[in-house]
Amino acid sequence: MVVDMTMKNITYFDNAATTYPKPQCVISAMNSCMKNYCANPGRSGHRLAILSEEAVYQARRRITDFFHGKNPLKTVFVKNATEGLNMVIGTLAAMKGHVIYTSYEHNSVIRPIWRYSQSGDLSYDICLPDVTGCIDPRDIESLIRKDTLAVIVSLASNITGYILPIKEIGRICKEHRLFFIVDVSQGAGTIQPDMIENDIHVIVGTGHKDLYGPQGTGFVCAEGFELIPILYGGTGTESMSPNPANVSPDILEAGTQNLPGIVGLAQGAAFIEELGAIKIQKHKKALIKRMSDGLKSIKGITSYIPEDNCGIVAFDVTGLDSQETVHLLSTQYGICARGGFHCSPNLHRYLKTDQTGLIRFSFGIFNKIKEVDHSLNALEFIAKRLV
Ligand SMILES: Cc1ncc(COP(=O)(O)O)c(C=O)c1O
Repeated sequence: MVVDMTMKNITYFDNAATTYPKPQCVISAMNSCMKNYCANPGRSGHRLAILSEEAVYQARRRITDFFHGKNPLKTVFVKNATEGLNMVIGTLAAMKGHVIYTSYEHNSVIRPIWRYSQSGDLSYDICLPDVTGCIDPRDIESLIRKDTLAVIVSLASNITGYILPIKEIGRICKEHRLFFIVDVSQGAGTIQPDMIENDIHVIVGTGHKDLYGPQGTGFVCAEGFELIPILYGGTGTESMSPNPANVSPDILEAGTQNLPGIVGLAQGAAFIEELGAIKIQKHKKALIKRMSDGLKSIKGITSYIPEDNCGIVAFDVTGLDSQETVHLLSTQYGICARGGFHCSPNLHRYLKTDQTGLIRFSFGIFNKIKEVDHSLNALEFIAKRLV
């Protein structure tokens, strides 16, 4: 592939889609795996296979510890959060009953639930934000029915960055003996949610966003929630039987694992832990404040910036299509951002942006204040139709 070197001058504000660039230590760990020991974990008994299996186990421990889970063998690697959420929601569908989610959920929650509602296996209610845009845990409580099985919420919104009150929601789930499932795809890394403190049964996440791992990685940490596999095949154990041994994590990870990806994910999580959530939050807060203050002084821009925010500034430019604006930002100013709709349709409805979409700037640890200033200049030109 020929790389256009002018790409070096880009401003990357699309970290909620996937973080970029990745830390050098992630690239090096993946490179070393591919070069030095990339055998098939859990299949053969030779030295390299054992090294590979050990690397997967260490990654399992790293991810479990990151969320203060108890048992690494209950952490399952999947290819992304979408696969993990399908596994979890499929398990709930097998129990049959009612689930509650919020207006902040992503299509990877909405669509599997909708599908199982069509087959009559699940019914659902959606908890709407209050007038301030926040989720009031009491509103979730008011939706609980006799047949409610679980509450599923995001740690943070992929559109506005709003951080949901998981502690209070977890307490309500505990009181009502419901499974509490948290999709940490947005936010885990900027925040380090504790499974035990927040009474969470299942954490589902993706590796390529705030954990700075590669694409093609995700995980489910499930404690006190017996997952049902969505894939059947080789697990490296009980090979002569058509029925896989019911042992976690093997039964939930049929097929060859993405070893370089898992190694990269573990390294990303280690990197983030070392940097520390406090430092990351401080950095993102500074970027958000600069952006938010700057947007206020540009006429014709409406912004949606919650106080509790994992690192996103969403806005629109009056009279300009959001896709057109991000196209101008990209082609004229080298700014990578996302426009249009963001896989969270209920929130677009709530924000009344379901016709226009929104522009999303999502910040990462490598972004700089001067990039915010550059984008504010660009937006000023665009808003005045000077470009
Ligand atoms: C809140 C949330 N959940 C789930 C997902 C799905 O992640 P993936 O596409 O990696 O499966 C995303 C992706 O943007 C997300 O923002």
